[in-house]
Amino acid sequence: MFVTTLVVGLLAVPCLGSVNPAKPQMGWNSWNTFKSNINETLIKSSAKSLVDTGLAQAGYKYVNLDDGWQAFTRDSSGRQQPNSTRFPSGMKALADFVHHMGLEIGIYSDSGIYDCAFYPGSYGYEERDAATYASWTIDYLKFDNCGSFQAGTLSPQERFLRMGDALNRSGRSIFYSLCQWGNQFPWHWASFSDSYRISGDIKSAFGEDSSGVCQSAYCLNTGYAGVSVLTMIRKMRELSRFQRPGSWGDMDMLEVGTGTMNLHQEQTHFSFWAALKSPLIIGADVNTISKVSLNILMNKEIIAISQDDAGVAVNYLPDLSTEHKVQVWGGPLASGKSRYVVLALNYGLDTTKITIPLIGLPGLNRSNLAKYTLREVWAGKVYHHGGDNLVLENVALNQTKVVVFSER
Ligand code: GLA
Repeated sequence: MFVTTLVVGLLAVPCLGSVNPAKPQMGWNSWNTFKSNINETLIKSSAKSLVDTGLAQAGYKYVNLDDGWQAFTRDSSGRQQPNSTRFPSGMKALADFVHHMGLEIGIYSDSGIYDCAFYPGSYGYEERDAATYASWTIDYLKFDNCGSFQAGTLSPQERFLRMGDALNRSGRSIFYSLCQWGNQFPWHWASFSDSYRISGDIKSAFGEDSSGVCQSAYCLNTGYAGVSVLTMIRKMRELSRFQRPGSWGDMDMLEVGTGTMNLHQEQTHFSFWAALKSPLIIGADVNTISKVSLNILMNKEIIAISQDDAGVAVNYLPDLSTEHKVQVWGGPLASGKSRYVVLALNYGLDTTKITIPLIGLPGLNRSNLAKYTLREVWAGKVYHHGGDNLVLENVALNQTKVVVFSER
């Protein structure tokens, strides 16, 4: 959230964070692996690992605490406080540590009376909590949707807007990551946040959803959590066109490196999150993550697609796709000399050949094709354009080939 009000006079204004919602945010979050079992040793070692592994250098700058940092009661002034056993040094000291490493720190709260683990939510305390986070020099807030039944009559829109306003008045630039689970279709109203979750929680599984999970973005809240990677991608068929700089649809934290997917599945997962302009927030344990998963998360060309200047997501191309077998997505790129990206996923066939007629790629300038170089990103293979079709040989089951068209 950008600070819009100039604070003048004798008020001490804490130094501002560096929100850049023009690009999907990148970082790490504790939830997928650690749930509420977090403490300051873990957060510090994760921050250090982000630097030591090269992830920070690759762009993953937020160190985000999810649920579990809080005490069960507010202090005598009504301020939220950390769990003193697990965070004995307090949040300001932790923020100082993270900032000292050249990173930024995120925290979690909730728009209801309670959060999902029955810690105090921010309902009715929005101003006070935003001021507290600013005083701790927090840079990022993930704001959840539990406890809303107890919050009674206020609509989710109003509850989330109240915190957005409070952050704006906090005197610090704090990234506002809204987590309303897609329940009330936030792509239609949440543009006051910097990003908004499009669904219930992701599951560490490539294709197997938990029971009752619905497949489209608009079906109602049956099967809240347990959305597999393939289903999350499916939901984006309806949402890719809503993606825009400063208001990113969030496909939830990455499951790359959490141990349930093979190489091709992890590459597919990361490729789609990047090309669909979802935030890239690592959910794995960065202290123990495998080199293979690290290499996926640090692929410079895929990250460049995510952070591309145009901020336009790829769209699903039904005419080039066959349900349950092959899906093809494409869209423009602006950065450098790149101009277009195609994702071709085999999700139902034995190793196959995928032929994509270039005429079927909307927005590709075909009059210039002779001047394009085509680069298959994961294979690092370059070829020059040679006809009316893009022919991708040997696409294995669950593999995605990502091809970037660049003008020479
Ligand atoms: C909700 C959110 C998750 C996580 C948990 C914490 O389920 O969607 O991402 O923050 O709450 O309790």
